[in-house]
Amino acid sequence: MVSFTFSAIALLSALLPSTLAQTFTACNPLNTTGCPNMPALGGNATFYFNDTMNDKIWKTTNGKADWSEKGATFTINQSGDSPTVQSAFYLFFGRVEIIMKAAPGRGIVSSAILQSEDLDEVDWEFLGSNTTHVLTNYFGKGNTTSFDRGKEFQMENPMEDFHNYTVDWTRERIQWWVDEKMLRELKYEEALDGKNYPQTPMNIRLGIWSGGDVKNNDPGVVEWAGGETNFKEGPFTMIVQQVYAKDYSTAKEYAWGNMTGSWQSIKLMNGTSEALEEIRKPHGAKNRWNALPKAAQIAIIASIIGFVVIVACIIAFCCIKQRRAGRREFAALEAQQNKEASELLEYKRQMTSGRFGHGNRI
Ligand SMILES: *[C@@H]1O[C@H](CO)[C@@H](O)[C@H](O)[C@H]1NC(C)=O
Ligand SMILES: *[C@@H]1O[C@H](CO)[C@@H](O)[C@H](O)[C@H]1NC(C)=O
Ligand SMILES: *[C@@H]1O[C@H](CO)[C@@H](O)[C@H](O)[C@H]1NC(C)=O
Ligand SMILES: *[C@@H]1O[C@H](CO)[C@@H](O)[C@H](O)[C@H]1NC(C)=O
Ligand SMILES: *[C@@H]1O[C@H](CO)[C@@H](O)[C@H](O)[C@H]1NC(C)=O
Ligand SMILES: *[C@@H]1O[C@H](CO)[C@@H](O)[C@H](O)[C@H]1NC(C)=O
Ligand SMILES: *[C@@H]1O[C@H](CO)[C@@H](O)[C@H](O)[C@H]1NC(C)=O
Ligand SMILES: *[C@@H]1O[C@H](CO)[C@@H](O)[C@H](O)[C@H]1NC(C)=O
Ligand SMILES: *[C@@H]1O[C@H](CO)[C@@H](O)[C@H](O)[C@H]1NC(C)=O
Repeated sequence: MVSFTFSAIALLSALLPSTLAQTFTACNPLNTTGCPNMPALGGNATFYFNDTMNDKIWKTTNGKADWSEKGATFTINQSGDSPTVQSAFYLFFGRVEIIMKAAPGRGIVSSAILQSEDLDEVDWEFLGSNTTHVLTNYFGKGNTTSFDRGKEFQMENPMEDFHNYTVDWTRERIQWWVDEKMLRELKYEEALDGKNYPQTPMNIRLGIWSGGDVKNNDPGVVEWAGGETNFKEGPFTMIVQQVYAKDYSTAKEYAWGNMTGSWQSIKLMNGTSEALEEIRKPHGAKNRWNALPKAAQIAIIASIIGFVVIVACIIAFCCIKQRRAGRREFAALEAQQNKEASELLEYKRQMTSGRFGHGNRI
């Protein structure tokens, strides 16, 4: 009975990441022709989520991720919440370094995974009730029949501190690192002679869900997740500070050559990666300015100076004119006053000279 329960849990833990987490594929290239090409990263990039998440690069697939100065936040407030995002770009072998803090809380599952459209998968998973271990896992072509892929590793404070979770994925092997320590290495041959080895272009998927939500999950899942979630203890938040991604191939897009799901069948479509262009496109006025060539900056500064000089000249010209006008007015006033004064004098002289006939004749 006990052993049955354990193997049932083991089965579930093997099944879970691809059945309940953020696993889906719109077009399975193993049984469908004409699945869309996959945009390549085709280079490397660092994403700082303390600022914002570029929604052309990070697509929301469920709920809503938020942002704080600490990073992108994935929060479960209540039953049914499961915010997730995924990268619009794919890596065809590559390296991903994720700086994150997993969410606490019984039954809460934080996950940071790589996944392809034919359901190859490389996982980091955290059970909120287990503050001492991290789970690593992988899948090839959605094959969930074996129980020996998932492996747990002891580590310090995954829910209290930010750590660097790195996956380095080549044709020959996959390595999982926490900070400076390599926890695990999987060789191509070790994965059923490569048949279960992740080898098609994968994107990055970040998210959180509640395996301990008794409303939505079978008892086995709740048990695997560490027990029933008490939503009153929430909210439960996973925070991703930054992601560094490096594509080990250079392409504009990756295309499915045939339905084998082997790396040899993947075609590299030449051209400039749109994801990389979008990422490198400067955002914000300051960055746009910094991105301008020196000559353009000089030209803009010169024309601003030119403009300022012209405006200054216009103002100066107006002032001088104004002052001249003022002076002219003053002179006119003065002349007027002088005229009035001399008229008065003349009047007085006339008065006194008796010209108008009254006054004393001298
Ligand atoms: C392709 O395979 C997937 C996964 O096994 C399955 O869900 C889907 O129905 C299949 N589609 C076709 C067209 O056979
Ligand atoms: C890309 O990789 C190069 C070489 O390792 C490195 O100098 C550069 O900083 C990386 N770029 C980003 C955006 O991380
Ligand atoms: C985000 O973090 C990066 C790297 O630590 C830093 O350079 C940048 O100033 C931060 N941005 C904000 C808005 O805090
Ligand atoms: C959780 O609640 C906070 C605060 O009310 C809100 O900002 C956030 O969007 C909610 N998240 C989800 C997934 O509902
Ligand atoms: C955490 O996971 C490890 C490995 O499965 C297990 O040995 C340990 O008992 C778990 N701790 C808790 C508190 O669940
Ligand atoms: C799935 O994996 C199991 C165990 O590694 C293996 O026995 C089985 O043949 C695989 N199935 C396929 C379709 O490759
Ligand atoms: C993450 O850890 C890996 C492995 O130790 C290291 O090579 C890499 O520089 C680290 N990345 C960051 C962003 O700290
Ligand atoms: C699939 O494509 C690869 C690489 O071009 C080729 O070696 C293999 O024979 C093809 N398999 C099938 C079944 O078409
Ligand atoms: C991509 O470019 C390389 C070298 O220029 C060429 O050999 C290859 O055939 C091109 N691939 C495609 C799919 O056009």
